[in-house]
Amino acid sequence: MKLLFIGDIMGSPGREIVKNYLPMLKRKYQPTFIVANGENSAHGRGITEKIAKELFDGGVHAITLGNHAWDQRDIYEFIDSEPRLIRPANFPQGAPGSGITYVKQSEGELAVINLQGRTFLPPLDCPFQMADTLVEQARKRTKLIFVDFHAEATSEKQAMAWYLDGRVSAVVGTHTHVQTADERVLPQGTGFLCDVGMCGPSNGILGMEREAVIRKFLTQLPERFEVAPDPAQLNAVVITLDKTTGHAKKLERIRIDSDHLFME
Ligand SMILES: [Fe+2]
Repeated sequence: MKLLFIGDIMGSPGREIVKNYLPMLKRKYQPTFIVANGENSAHGRGITEKIAKELFDGGVHAITLGNHAWDQRDIYEFIDSEPRLIRPANFPQGAPGSGITYVKQSEGELAVINLQGRTFLPPLDCPFQMADTLVEQARKRTKLIFVDFHAEATSEKQAMAWYLDGRVSAVVGTHTHVQTADERVLPQGTGFLCDVGMCGPSNGILGMEREAVIRKFLTQLPERFEVAPDPAQLNAVVITLDKTTGHAKKLERIRIDSDHLFME
């Protein structure tokens, strides 16, 4: 069985490219589970109820978030009523929403856990301790457990993957928007990819308009970043899972852009 994980969807260019390619990706890979990170889907900042609904209608089974989870005001209204949309579990107690959800299909049930790193990001509760709690909880229901670790530092992401090796099906990083080429299955059976990359503008800087980002580096003055225009790229990963053990068998990175054309 396969899990398709789609990287950080960035603004309307990201939503558009996912909408266009998802039917083809489904045909090619026949994924049992589809998970997407949507934390940048509303103009690069957070997600709205309407966008979440569009992604679910398009076939996404669960949406994860990250440090931009709270950027759109209406998230506070709807996250508690939409269990398929989760935010990093290690936000301090009292934050709305949940950091774990379950996707039930006829072939099996997948637990999806969202965690956020603390290196170069706000100091949330410990993601490693939270992982222990949630993995123990999930393993009472299923061996198929996917972790989206939204973090900046490659070291923290590697640490999480090795920490959870053998206890979860896969740990895949999000947030840096740049796909890494280090996909592997760790010795105890956990699949790992440091960062899946984003779905969004190819010619921006991490998907934002270049000019303002460069200006900020030059002047160190505050700038407002806007999502860059098309063309867009799509980054994702397909993880082949062993239904019986819950382990990953193989990870296949997906990159679609003008230099990497999609082959059916
Ligand atoms: Fe992020």
